Amino acid sequence: MKKIVITGATGLVGSRVVELLSDKFEFIPLASKDMDITNKDSVHSVLNGLSYDLVLHMAAYTNTKAENEEEKAYQINETGTQNILDVVNSAKKEFIYISTDFVFDGEKPPYVETSIPHPISTYGASKYAGEKKIGTDGMIVRISYPYRSAFGPKKDIIRTLKTLLEAGKALTMVNDSLMVPTFIDDIAYGLEYLMNNYSREIFHLVGKDAMSPFALAQTIAKTFNLNGSLVGKTTYDEYFANKPKGPRYSDIRSEKNTFYAMHSFEEGLHIIKNQLNLL
Ligand SMILES: NC(=O)c1ccc[n+]([C@@H]2O[C@H](COP(=O)([O-])OP(=O)(O)OC[C@H]3O[C@@H](n4cnc5c(N)ncnc54)[C@H](OP(=O)(O)O)[C@@H]3O)[C@@H](O)[C@H]2O)c1
Repeated sequence: MKKIVITGATGLVGSRVVELLSDKFEFIPLASKDMDITNKDSVHSVLNGLSYDLVLHMAAYTNTKAENEEEKAYQINETGTQNILDVVNSAKKEFIYISTDFVFDGEKPPYVETSIPHPISTYGASKYAGEKKIGTDGMIVRISYPYRSAFGPKKDIIRTLKTLLEAGKALTMVNDSLMVPTFIDDIAYGLEYLMNNYSREIFHLVGKDAMSPFALAQTIAKTFNLNGSLVGKTTYDEYFANKPKGPRYSDIRSEKNTFYAMHSFEEGLHIIKNQLNLL
């Protein structure tokens, strides 16, 4: 069985990957208490003390809106990535870096594997800095707006909106931008293939459809029999007038994923409904 060191194993995506694939791979899950990736000595001593075939590097600074924490974002996403890569390279092992649609500016969609990144936020720029450290020394897998049925420590955007609608709260959602929600179970199964068929390339593992946040919220309301009239509309310019911006038309697609059929958003939500015993 292939041995996988996974960083960020306590996170939203990483914990589900371990949950779903632990009968297929031998995982060595690492949290920040086990190895602070910004600490070069810690990374060297922990990784060099382990026997593994591949490092799946999911740990990251993930706050997309913290423009005032630039140094921390780069320390974790760029320096942390470099620290791990150095050790993995000298051990001649495989390395997969999980990245994001936020490396693109969202001005000229769609974005495929060959599109040129041009981030507009600190988070996006720090993740792109991590990508540049890797270059052709590893695999880069970009994901976008991951969601799953349950995870105590962190709410994804779908569970955030669902919880607000369940509480009868009115939402104001952007109607003139695009995003691609991705079912985390699909990310896990796509990664299963990529970990078994490693190559030093870029892949996008993203959902089947791009939609506006307004349409996303409406679909959640419809699927879970919640009150869709609570979902109001606004524009991208109005909503982000005084807030850090994300890419506007974040229509990320894959031209290379011929190995795992990602679900549509509606399909993903129906699977979640089933997982929550709501069907
Ligand atoms: N969530 C999204 O919307 C999204 C979208 C696109 C791409 N991604 C990418 O997907 C990956 C996983 O994201 P996620 O949402 O699952 O993350 P998350 O839930 O925010 O968890 C972050 C993980 O990183 C670890 N971490 C943070 N700083 C660390 C450090 N200095 N040393 C070691 N570990 C550290 C945390 O460990 P502790 O719990 O021990 O602190 C935690 O396991 C990331 O690379 C992210 O950039 C996420």
